[in-house]
Amino acid sequence: MKVTKICCIGAGYVGGPTMSVIAQKCPDIKVTVVDINQTRIDAWNDPDLSNLPVYEPGLDKVVAEARGRNLFFSTDVIKAIEESEMIFISVNTPTKTYGEGKGMAADLKWVELCARQIATASKEDKIVVEKSTLPVRTAQAVKDILVNTGNGLKFQILSNPEFLAEGTAIEDLESPDRVLIGGDDTPEGKIAIQALVDIYARWVPKDRILTTNVWSSELSKLTANAFLAQRVSSINALSELCEVTGADVSEVAKAIGTDSRIGSKFLKASVGFGGSCFQKDILNMVYICRSYQLNEVADYWEQVIKMNDHQKARFAKKIIKSLYNTVSGKKITFLGWAFKKDTNDTRESAAIYVADHLLSEQAKICVYDPKVNQEKVYADLEYLNTRSSDENRRHVKVMNDPYEACKDSHAIAILTEWDEFKTYDWEKIYQNMLKPATLFDGRNILSKEEMTKIGFRFYAIGKP
Ligand code: NAI
Repeated sequence: MKVTKICCIGAGYVGGPTMSVIAQKCPDIKVTVVDINQTRIDAWNDPDLSNLPVYEPGLDKVVAEARGRNLFFSTDVIKAIEESEMIFISVNTPTKTYGEGKGMAADLKWVELCARQIATASKEDKIVVEKSTLPVRTAQAVKDILVNTGNGLKFQILSNPEFLAEGTAIEDLESPDRVLIGGDDTPEGKIAIQALVDIYARWVPKDRILTTNVWSSELSKLTANAFLAQRVSSINALSELCEVTGADVSEVAKAIGTDSRIGSKFLKASVGFGGSCFQKDILNMVYICRSYQLNEVADYWEQVIKMNDHQKARFAKKIIKSLYNTVSGKKITFLGWAFKKDTNDTRESAAIYVADHLLSEQAKICVYDPKVNQEKVYADLEYLNTRSSDENRRHVKVMNDPYEACKDSHAIAILTEWDEFKTYDWEKIYQNMLKPATLFDGRNILSKEEMTKIGFRFYAIGKP
């Protein structure tokens, strides 16, 4: 079966870049990305490519090449479903904020809505691809809805989780470590799997396209995120031990990372992991384990989240302690608000939680991030509901110039590892601060030697 028209529901951080690359690599396939959010679709269609709703290095070039040729962004969900043979579901699946499973389970209401939209709009058989990260066995629910509310049509459900990392999405999509496709072991299931394999095979070597059953594919995505987050929490746990024993976490990471059984990646100690996925996917896995009474397994993985919360709180407490146990009325500058460099995504960013902690101690916070705007910062703080929106706006200022942001501050905290922070004139920044000037490097990107030579009191993660 040759697919000629694809639709993707959800034009977010995954749907947008993923479909842009598919459209770029397959000029003969019409790719329509739909979303209910008109502002987001307008931004994807903006002639000025610097206004795309997702910032990813290289994304603008890919969109420029394919948009209007075979890549389209639209709010007409029904029409796009109707005319496509293959439909990707790439909608948000956040942690539930209400009811049964609150704070743990994935909220599947948007996925269910997609399934119902597909059932309503379809006039022919379709292949439905789960691109969103979903709890294991969700495909069963999606199928159930399609079969029971559909018009007697046949639907094949595939699981094709996305492994891209924000900040390197285009690179990851162009040469993925692997593509994972799960489907039914029936003749129809195999045809559907092959149709999707054929799309990726245009640019991904065949040995990197793995096919499994649906449940293995769904669970592999949760497992991958749990393992990655676990490495970060493991090295962060050790960073605290390093600080009290005189060991240096970077040296320990290097020493263990050269062991090929361990490997060197994802061993960077920091203020803690963020992003929309790690925490939500682990919590979801923990919830699933508990629902099967696998309490030891659940406890094991839950500790990864607890360690991450501890690391964020520890960083905030370190700032308070170093500033003579009070930050009340003191200006503290945050360099970075995004959850990692090279993205404008701030979901679950460590910066939000550190800020919240310091604001509760009456600090005045000034934020500079190269890609995050003022309203996003306020929206993130408001989402926590710790204090009124008015208070957040009074005590947090967002600046467009890093030097202005750092001026007259008692301390600077680096919350995101943006490369540009390394190239600043730190001498000039130091001169314009209140003394003693303290620098808290939450990402270990600056040299302690150079910074202390300038005059800073310098704190890095996991360093003696
Ligand atoms: P997002 O929140 O950026 O985008 C989701 C979009 O879906 C939103 O624009 C929303 O308006 C739209 N939407 C929701 N329901 C809809 C409906 N019924 N019809 C049309 N549009 C609808 O989310 P993001 O980050 O793209 O994540 C999507 C999924 O991919 C999640 O399940 C996530 O766990 C997974 N994922 C995310 C990664 C990431 O790095 N952000 C990486 C790998 C997987």
